[in-house]
This record gives sequence, C-alpha cells and structure tokens, in this order.
Amino acid sequence: MEKIIILDFGSQTTQLIGRRVREIGVYTEILPCDTRLTADILSDTRGIILSGSPESVYDKDSPAPDPAVYKTGLPILGICYGLQRTMYDNGGEVISHTKKEYGRARVMFEKSDPLLDGVSSGFTSWMSHGDAIHRLAPGFAIVAQTENNIPAVIRHTDKKIWGIQFHPEVTHCEFGNNILENFSIKICGCGRSWNVDAYFKQIADEVKQKVGKENVLLLISGGVDSTVVAALLLEALDPDQVYLMYIDTGLMRKGESDEVEASLKKLGAKHLHHINAGERFLAALAGFSEPEEKRKIIADMFIKVQETEVKQLAISHAYLAQGTLYTDLIESGKGVGKKAHVIKSHHNVRGPLVEAKRKAGLIIEPLHSLYKDEVRLLGKKLRLPESMIKRHPFPGPGLGVRILGEITQEKVHILQEADYIYISELKSRGLYDQIWQAFSVLLPLRSVGVSGDMRRYGYILSLRAVISHDGMTADVFPFPTQDLLEISSMITNQVKDVGRVVYDISSKPPATIEWE
Ligand code: XMP
Repeated sequence: MEKIIILDFGSQTTQLIGRRVREIGVYTEILPCDTRLTADILSDTRGIILSGSPESVYDKDSPAPDPAVYKTGLPILGICYGLQRTMYDNGGEVISHTKKEYGRARVMFEKSDPLLDGVSSGFTSWMSHGDAIHRLAPGFAIVAQTENNIPAVIRHTDKKIWGIQFHPEVTHCEFGNNILENFSIKICGCGRSWNVDAYFKQIADEVKQKVGKENVLLLISGGVDSTVVAALLLEALDPDQVYLMYIDTGLMRKGESDEVEASLKKLGAKHLHHINAGERFLAALAGFSEPEEKRKIIADMFIKVQETEVKQLAISHAYLAQGTLYTDLIESGKGVGKKAHVIKSHHNVRGPLVEAKRKAGLIIEPLHSLYKDEVRLLGKKLRLPESMIKRHPFPGPGLGVRILGEITQEKVHILQEADYIYISELKSRGLYDQIWQAFSVLLPLRSVGVSGDMRRYGYILSLRAVISHDGMTADVFPFPTQDLLEISSMITNQVKDVGRVVYDISSKPPATIEWE
C-alpha cells in the first residue's frame, strides 16, 4: 500500500502527525528516526516526514536520520526539529534563539508555494521551539516568516524538500490540515486510498492466508479492541475456526457479560466460552487490601484460569489473536532511535500462553496498524452496536481497582448497582460521549447520614469523569452541576448502602485516572 513514512525523533506529537495524514486518506507508518532506509522500506513510500523532538541538533548524540534520507529523491517535510535537522545535515546553522516561541505565532508569506496552496498569509500557527535557523543550508530559501522574523517555512529551490518551524498536526494551527494535505496529495502524489474498508479487505486476506484451515483463539475482555478483533475474525474466517473465550472475573460492570455474549452471538460466534470465574477471583482476593497486591492476584488468577480453561478446549495448535493497537506498538518519545516494536505490557494479555504462541509464531494482531478511533470505525463497519464501540475504556482488573481496600461480593454488588445508575444517567443525559472515561469508586469508609428519621451509616462513593485523548493525561470533566446533583440523589435513594456521593476533581497528573 502506498504510504508516507514518518521518522520519529521523539516528539509528543509524532502520532498526531500520523493520524492527521491518515484522516486525509493516506496511509502512514511511524519508524524510529535512525531506521536504515532500505529499498524494501522505500518501495511503496511516496514521501517522508521528519518529526519534531525535545532535543537540539547541536546536542551531543542528538537523534539523526539515515543520511540517505536526503538522497532518496522522495519529497521530504521536516517539522520543527525535522526542519532544523534538515538544515544542520545539509550545511546550515541552527542556534538557540533568544526569543523562544511557544504557542500561537502569526506566519506571513508573499510568494505562492505548493505547500501553502489555499493557505492565507498571516495565519496563526502553533509553535513550540527554542531553536531556530541561523543560516540556511545551501540551495534552500525562505518561503514564510513569523512576526519575529524567524523562518517559518523553507524549501529547497530544486529538490522537493520543505521544512516548517511550526506544528501543522496540532488542532490550534490554522490551515494545518491544508498543509499536510498539500504535502501528501499534491506534492507526494498519493491518492486518498486509506480507509477502514480498504484496511479490512487487506487484513482479512492476510489473516485468511496466515491461518489457513487452523483454528484461532481469542480472549475477549469486553473492551472495544478485543470485540472488534472477534467481529473481524468471524467475518474473515469460517466461524467454526474461531474460538472465543470470555473470562468473567466477577469484577465486571452490571450486565456487561451478558451484553458481550449477546453481541458476539449476533455476529455468528459458534464457539463462545463464557467462563464464570468470579468465585475463584474473590476467594484469591479475600483478606488483601494493598493495591499492587490486589492487581498481582488478579493478573495471576487470570493466567491460571486462562491456562486451565484453554487446555479444556483441546485446540493446541490454534493461533492466538490479540487486540494490540498501533499505539501499543510504538514507543513513546523516550524511545528515540530504539526499536519501535515494544508492547506496553498492561494493555495485553500476558502469561505463558502468549509467550508460547509468540515463540511458535502463532500470534495474529489484526489491529496492529490502527489507532483507537480507526478501530471504532472498523467496529462500526463490522456491525457492532454503537453501545459497544463507544464504550469507555475499562481496566483489566475491572472493579478490583475501583473498590478501595478489601474486595467482597457485597461491595462488588454495591458498586455495580451505583455505577449502573451513574453510567445509564450519563447516557440518557447525552453526557456519556463527551467523556473519555467515567466510573464510580467505592471507598472503604462510611459516613453518617439521615434517612427518614433514621440514622444511616453508609459507604462513600466517588464519581469520576475525565476527558483525555489517550489516557496518558486527563482533565476533569466540567460536569453540569444540576446533573451531578440529580445523579447523586438517585444513587443515594436507590442504593441503600451508599450514604454519600462525592465528585473527584483531580486531573492526571498528579492523580491517575483509576484510584488504585
Ligand atoms: P491510570 O489509572 O494509570 O490509567 O491513569 C490510564 C488508563 O489505563 C487504564 N488502566 C488499565 N488498563 N489494565 C488495563 O488494561 C490495567 O491494569 C489498567 N490500569 C489502568 C485506565 O482505566 C485508564 O484508561
């Protein structure tokens, strides 16, 4: 598939560049900045973007690309550090500037340029840099400048090499999409061929070829990713080849397990193994209240149940499918120059089963090239219900990290009931889709209240609602007060063991999204 390569020098916004270009309809791949640009890598490549970086080109060991990048003849777009790198590597000079620019900056230009086609002079760009060009490399010319007379756009006069000092991928940058579109479509000549339909066809063929007549096992968590993988496998393969296992830890939300089972059956699942392991989990957790201990117990029990139950299926040569996403595969900014494919462990099912399958080459990861929003689009194409696709993220240890302190069946029940009211109300009030993640936390504390004329000594429940892009940072959702008051009183009226409701107003950082 024709693509644009993004060489990652460690910027926070590298992934955003990838997403923006894909939204335009062009497939992108992010590679570590020092990837050797072999003929194989370059075969379908139509252009190269050099990302930003927190580093400076004149720092010792600053990240550098394969020098061959400038000789490929492919169009190049350097963004921020990518621009400075291009200057430095081609004989220009970059200095630390006295007037550092952060945030909005106006960009002016006089002459037209293909990169700025359709862009108005005097547009507001988004800057985040301390370094700037001091002397242009030979063959380059300034196309646009900021109001502080700092080169904002430069280009080579003969070759298709551009550099921009600002970040077009950031939504605050006016005309940012135009610029990326001009580069991808007009300059690199890519068609708008990337979409989830095309992806589905490609990946379905790949899965069919790889799996052949063998079986595939998928552990379903109830989350969006594994459910979309299930739908994809059921559509791409004969449903008789697809074994789905759902381990119900007893720490799921109210009604969740039934909903998962019903939607998978609707998609044609024939081998759906719903394992009710709640008692096993609760027994292992009894007496423990330290968060890390609880997490470890849940993770270990998960592996134990998984091993026991998979053995019973007697499909030893089956492939194991996983819902790994593109973002799980790309290292964050810190991984400059390192190998990109490292999986963030807590997002994936771990344990001996996964290790053994990986060693045997029996792993398939059909979502490996997709971002979360693309997974949702694919889910929609595969006819998964909206309620499933738009579900908020849910942690592997489930309610286990939302019942602070010791977990008991009674507390699980209280939290399930209260959280069900909270989430249902968010949905019916049209608030659910504005929120990245909402849930309730049961505190190991009770407080005094009054109900009728009776003293009431009920648990304290905290409501959480955050907005975020990727869960790495989060802001508190500015909850409309009236809704909050009404939901609080519904919970205390209907769940007799909850005596008091509070709203968590901590952002991440310094707090985390989950409480444990
Ligand atoms: P924190 O609490 O670290 O959470 O701010 C960030 C995001 O990750 C989710 N989360 C988990 N997901 N297994 C998971 O699959 C886990 O153990 C886990 N812990 C936290 C959390 O819900 C949020 O979306």
